[in-house]
Amino acid sequence: EKDKGLIRDSWESLGKNKVPHGIVMFTRLFELDPALLTLFSYSTNCGDAPECLSSPEFLEHVTKVMLVIDAAVSHLDDLHTLEDFLLNLGRKHQAVGVKTQSFTVVGESLLYMLQSSLGSAYTTPLRQAWLNMYSIVVSAMTRGWAK
Ligand code: HEM
Repeated sequence: EKDKGLIRDSWESLGKNKVPHGIVMFTRLFELDPALLTLFSYSTNCGDAPECLSSPEFLEHVTKVMLVIDAAVSHLDDLHTLEDFLLNLGRKHQAVGVKTQSFTVVGESLLYMLQSSLGSAYTTPLRQAWLNMYSIVVSAMTRGWAK
């Protein structure tokens, strides 16, 4: 319960528009693994990562990712209701060539974004609470990926 409060409050403190935070997260992701950029078919329409991340298609994916996280935060009490959606999402990412190990790098990028946005509010318990939630999301996506 304490974990849920930490997650909800920190997510809310990022403000209503989560897209800028998503850009920070994906900038970090493409720094950690630049090859992920090429999995987006529309990456041929842009040059480097910063340019791609300002393109409408990439911004749309960033927006979708933030909406999934938002859904998870909203459903902390009943994450299992997202199960079918997440299984399907994992399957779709398998189809576009994302490896399950990359979900771990996404997690690191999420924590990086939280740390840069929250500053001193980013504590060890908060980090652990986010990791726990993210690992539930990734475990469902990974099961869907393998199906
Ligand atoms: C769709 C790549 C991580 C949520 C897609 C697509 C690609 C892609 C190529 C299809 C084209 C598009 O819709 O833009 C990646 C890569 C990731 C990643 C390379 C990093 C390893 C994530 C994560 C989430 C997510 C972590 C959410 C937690 C979505 C959603 C869609 C999508 C909601 C739309 C699926 C649909 O069409 O129903 N992703 N993705 N992605 N991705 Fe990702």
